Amino acid sequence: MDDATPYAGAVDHYTSAARRDWVKRTWEEPALHRHLDAALRRARALGLPADVAVLDLGCGTGVGLDLLRGTAAVAAGDVRVARYTGLDLDADLLAVARDRLAGPEGPPPGVGAVALVRGDLADPPEVGPHDVLLSSGVPLSHLPPDALGPALTRVVTRAVPPGRTALLVVDVLGRWSLEWTSRWDRTRWAYRMSFFATDAAAEAAEMTTWDGEELERTVRTAVAAAGREVLDATRVDRSLAVGRHTSTGEYTPGLPRLRDLVDALAAGGGGDPAALRIAVPLPPAPPAVAAAHARLAVAWNTRLDAAGPAPDAAARRALAEDLRAVEAAQEPEGLGIGHSLTLFAVVGGGA
Ligand SMILES: C[S@@+](CC[C@H](N)C(=O)[O-])C[C@H]1O[C@@H](n2cnc3c(N)ncnc32)[C@H](O)[C@@H]1O
Repeated sequence: MDDATPYAGAVDHYTSAARRDWVKRTWEEPALHRHLDAALRRARALGLPADVAVLDLGCGTGVGLDLLRGTAAVAAGDVRVARYTGLDLDADLLAVARDRLAGPEGPPPGVGAVALVRGDLADPPEVGPHDVLLSSGVPLSHLPPDALGPALTRVVTRAVPPGRTALLVVDVLGRWSLEWTSRWDRTRWAYRMSFFATDAAAEAAEMTTWDGEELERTVRTAVAAAGREVLDATRVDRSLAVGRHTSTGEYTPGLPRLRDLVDALAAGGGGDPAALRIAVPLPPAPPAVAAAHARLAVAWNTRLDAAGPAPDAAARRALAEDLRAVEAAQEPEGLGIGHSLTLFAVVGGGA
């Protein structure tokens, strides 16, 4: 197996406290918990067992298990993680996951067993039956557009026995994010992880971005090719205005450093809120995408304008909270207009 992955040296980033900024802690993680919780409940209603074996595709340091454990369904014991298997290509990130989740003190509370496996998402090894096929942090965007469907077909065929209900979570980069308007004209491009806490891994990796409808078609076709059915499909956009690349300004000329500015507002600081106005010109896009961006900009800018040029610290904190609500209102559109696009598919049939 090739040892070189785009994440060589990324351990420092994934273990740094700076990675969990205010936006991550109060916008992104709660949104992920909420969406994953709702998906677990929909899957339960369609036959997902209460005791689940989880396969985390591109697990990195094992963040997927933390996300699951942060859902209300798992916290309340309505869903229990009987077994967690993390699959990743990067030996260094897997070693961090092993230390965190499978050390001498055993698995985290409430988790039956943990296994960490080195393997390629494009052709995942046999890992036995699983009920939740999870991905978080856009690992599936590493695959070329025409490789995602076949990879999902293989994983569903191998990990979901016929007749069992499973939840498949496909997390990828959104095609139409404000962070990369200069790349809207293509679906696979050299993506630099220049927002890493260290620049050890700032080399570009080819990544695929996805339109919401295109992703759903691909997943439905892949599941059908595995001889299974999609019983329910729900898409959500995440980090519409504050994705990590708004801090680098790398792929959208003129976009304010929105993530840094929102973090500053939340701490009661920052300058004139007008600096956060979204007013970048948008390249051609499907009408629903253009309309969604227009709605986001109007709602966002209206709230900023109402704050005036010099709000006090409490008003700045309230403004940061309100901007979060503006963003959250548009998450369920699932068009691919955020940093990430997640499709939750309940898979069944095939018996
Ligand atoms: C941005 S990280 C996300 C990690 C983790 N899921 C999280 O939420 O933080 C993407 C992960 O995908 C892994 N990855 C990339 N290409 C892969 C491949 N072809 N097979 C397996 N893992 C891969 C990387 O090693 C990395 O750990």
